[in-house]
Amino acid sequence: MHIVTAGASGFLGQRLIKRLRSGGHRITQLVRSNPQGADQATWDPDHGVLDPSLLEGADGIVNLCGVGVGDKRWNGAYRDLIRTSRVNPSKLLATTGARTGVPVLVNASGVGYYGPRGDEFIDETGNAGTSFLAGVCVDWERATDAAEKGGVRVVHLRTGLVLGKEAGLLPQLTLITKLFAGGKLGSGKQYYPWISATDHIDAMVHLLTADVAGPVNMTGPAPVTNAEFTRELGHQLHRPTPWKVPKFALQLVVGDFAEEIVGGQRAIPEALTASGFVFTHATLSEALHSELG
Ligand SMILES: NC(=O)c1ccc[n+]([C@@H]2O[C@H](COP(=O)([O-])OP(=O)(O)OC[C@H]3O[C@@H](n4cnc5c(N)ncnc54)[C@H](OP(=O)(O)O)[C@@H]3O)[C@@H](O)[C@H]2O)c1
Repeated sequence: MHIVTAGASGFLGQRLIKRLRSGGHRITQLVRSNPQGADQATWDPDHGVLDPSLLEGADGIVNLCGVGVGDKRWNGAYRDLIRTSRVNPSKLLATTGARTGVPVLVNASGVGYYGPRGDEFIDETGNAGTSFLAGVCVDWERATDAAEKGGVRVVHLRTGLVLGKEAGLLPQLTLITKLFAGGKLGSGKQYYPWISATDHIDAMVHLLTADVAGPVNMTGPAPVTNAEFTRELGHQLHRPTPWKVPKFALQLVVGDFAEEIVGGQRAIPEALTASGFVFTHATLSEALHSELG
């Protein structure tokens, strides 16, 4: 296959590119800076600049663009950037993909779509939440409307917490736990919709050819509470995790993002399972062992 990627310089993108290359697939990587090789090409999603010929004849697009939601405190400017860095690239890829006849657009989104949901089981039929991140996810998914109208099969990756040793949540929690400072966040009762990075990448590749359209919960089959997650991580790192970080302390450190951290979703991967996808890491213990071992 010839796959065009966007936002692929990050955590999931780098793993995806490695995986696609090892499968013998051709990649065109859209980059926002100067191209570093023959398989990279420049685009400027904030100014609508994308050469359509880059998409002509491609078998699919995978779009992973977006600034990190937890990278900075959520002031007004950063809230805008969280939204525009997702909506602008999605819109441009959707319109250009439809115009050039690309068969499938696999577009990032997040389980934040559902907002904080306690211990309710949530599959892809769940309603959108009302939080800031939920609103961003709604706009992000709607940004691909032109592709759907143009006959492109669009998949929205409602990704949970991806566990990989090199980036994201796991290295931060591992460091804290190794320093004997591990503990539950808030009440610890909120659900962590984790998925191993291996399964997330395999599922993206699967969705490029599977007969699936619309939202897909990119989460493992056995979500756990924050307290259970904390205990299992401590167990695998041979550290106690006795502490409790109250919500107000989280708010001091990360601001409004604290609401999302103590909220959580018990998301179930109904669409993935129904499409025949088989998880390599079905339990948290297996996922952590594979990344930390
Ligand atoms: N990792 C997770 O646990 C998780 C959970 C839920 C949702 N997601 C979503 O999945 C996608 C990929 O996640 P990731 O962990 O790989 O993220 P990441 O490591 O932060 O990579 C995101 C990529 O987005 C691009 N980007 C950064 N700033 C941008 C901007 N202002 N405008 C347009 N593009 C920008 C960059 O790629 P270029 O420099 O190559 O353009 C960057 O490498 C993101 O949209 C993220 O929100 C991830």
